Amino acid sequence: MPAIKSLEELKRVREEALAKKQLKATPGHIQVIVAMGTCGIAAGARDTMKSVLNFIETEHLSGVTVTQTGCMGMCEQEPIMQVVIGDQPKVVYGKVNAEVASQIMKQHVQNGSPVKDYVLPL
Ligand code: FES
Repeated sequence: MPAIKSLEELKRVREEALAKKQLKATPGHIQVIVAMGTCGIAAGARDTMKSVLNFIETEHLSGVTVTQTGCMGMCEQEPIMQVVIGDQPKVVYGKVNAEVASQIMKQHVQNGSPVKDYVLPL
């Protein structure tokens, strides 16, 4: 991250951070986060990510941000995927292969109902 050299620059960075935070808390805005650490990838996280992106493209979904994260410290549950809808608490799923990812996208992301069989108790 580059150094902030002026008060104006600091204000601009602050405004951007607040706007980003507000976007995440907007009702209806959805984040899908796939853990892409080494063991996640070894467990098939690339296929999970492809399935998520394919679903969004096929269903023409908008308002969904897809990102990746690193190691979540739960190797045995990989591939792991999180869904955050607006300001609701995040839902963390484990053992999300491509098929399960598609099911989560349809049932939770598209229709708002978590897929309970794969929710990790945190
Ligand atoms: S090494 Fe497996 S979750 Fe971090």
